[in-house]
Amino acid sequence: MNNELHTLADYDAEARARLSTMVYDYFSGGAADEFTLSRNRESFKRLALLPRVLVDVSRRSAATSVLGTPVSMPLLIAPTAFQSLAHPEGEIATARAAQALETLMILSTFSTSEIEYVASRLEGRFWFQLYVYRDREITKSIVERAVAAGARALVLTVDAPVIGRRERDIRNRFHLPDSMMVKSPVSAQGSEISGSELEAYVAQMLDPALSWRDLEWLQSIAGIPVVLKGVLRADDAKRAIRAGVQAIVVSNHGGRQLDTAATALDALPAIVDAVADSAEIYVDGGIRRGTDVIKALALGARAVLLGRPILWGLAADGADGVQNVLRILRGELDQAMALCGCSSLKDITRDLLTEASPAANRADAQSIIIR
Ligand code: FNR
Ligand code: LAC
Repeated sequence: MNNELHTLADYDAEARARLSTMVYDYFSGGAADEFTLSRNRESFKRLALLPRVLVDVSRRSAATSVLGTPVSMPLLIAPTAFQSLAHPEGEIATARAAQALETLMILSTFSTSEIEYVASRLEGRFWFQLYVYRDREITKSIVERAVAAGARALVLTVDAPVIGRRERDIRNRFHLPDSMMVKSPVSAQGSEISGSELEAYVAQMLDPALSWRDLEWLQSIAGIPVVLKGVLRADDAKRAIRAGVQAIVVSNHGGRQLDTAATALDALPAIVDAVADSAEIYVDGGIRRGTDVIKALALGARAVLLGRPILWGLAADGADGVQNVLRILRGELDQAMALCGCSSLKDITRDLLTEASPAANRADAQSIIIR
């Protein structure tokens, strides 16, 4: 284990040093001008904390559950594609880390490891992220495989009818090595993703016609709870709940899809007000510090998902790296809870938040004061 890496940002730098430009850019990049990508981080700075004092915080727990599955902390592993690009053990290493820290892993449809091998390491703390293929027989067989492997929920990603315009990937001609196949959906069909064709592959294979009508069909073949990932509007969240969806991931896909889309923090309060009584709500995008987690939970999220930090941990040190990333963030969350006067997650409420003074975040703050 690398003892010099103390923050998630340290892991980012380590991953950058180890990976090729093509892979690092695929992991790190966003769509178009990457405005949403950078706003995902900035949105946390707009909120300030109002810590409670003189609370006994000598005993603290961050344990919770997601759709009935107990987890030791509200930090879940977001689905990310092609993890073998980060480390030869790929998704298997991520699963080992999730298991060691007793948290939940969401496995991507674009996994480079067999669903069954990944699932066998997770003792039920395993959800499967679904991309819907034009060929519904392929989709059905993926869902059946995930359910048979023990997935406890199906996470349907709804913000990617087409792939975002990722200009770094276009410039770098992003591709997968010939040896790397995506294992879950297509191996049975004998086809493979040759990565320079990721965008073309998605356009060719995934179904941009996917609509609300398909939800019922998916629920009927899955027989496990369905979660929608990539919702930013309260009306969509309400409709999803009416259609029987049990949880929502408020997300802009890490800024990789629609550039200038709202951040999860922008969108969260309206969605919480609309559906929090009837569904669990999770968020992702730019969570890098324990205080980010507190802010998301204070606004009503039940848990957060981590995308890139997991890939950085994987690139730096395989399963140990992922474990360390999760430990660092869990430690920061624990400390922030203590300093906010919270001994359990239910103490993390909206009154801990206030707007940060806008001037404090502005480069021109000084000139305003002088004038
Ligand atoms: C993703 N994400 C993603 N989402 C999904 O539903 N299916 C997928 O296969 C992928 N693949 C993927 C690859 C890479 C390299 C990244 C960075 C992201 C999106 C992911 O689940 C999550 O929404 C974001 O990554 C969250 O933002 P942060 O934590 O990366 O800032
Ligand atoms: C991505 C897709 C695969 O964000 O979800 O790269």
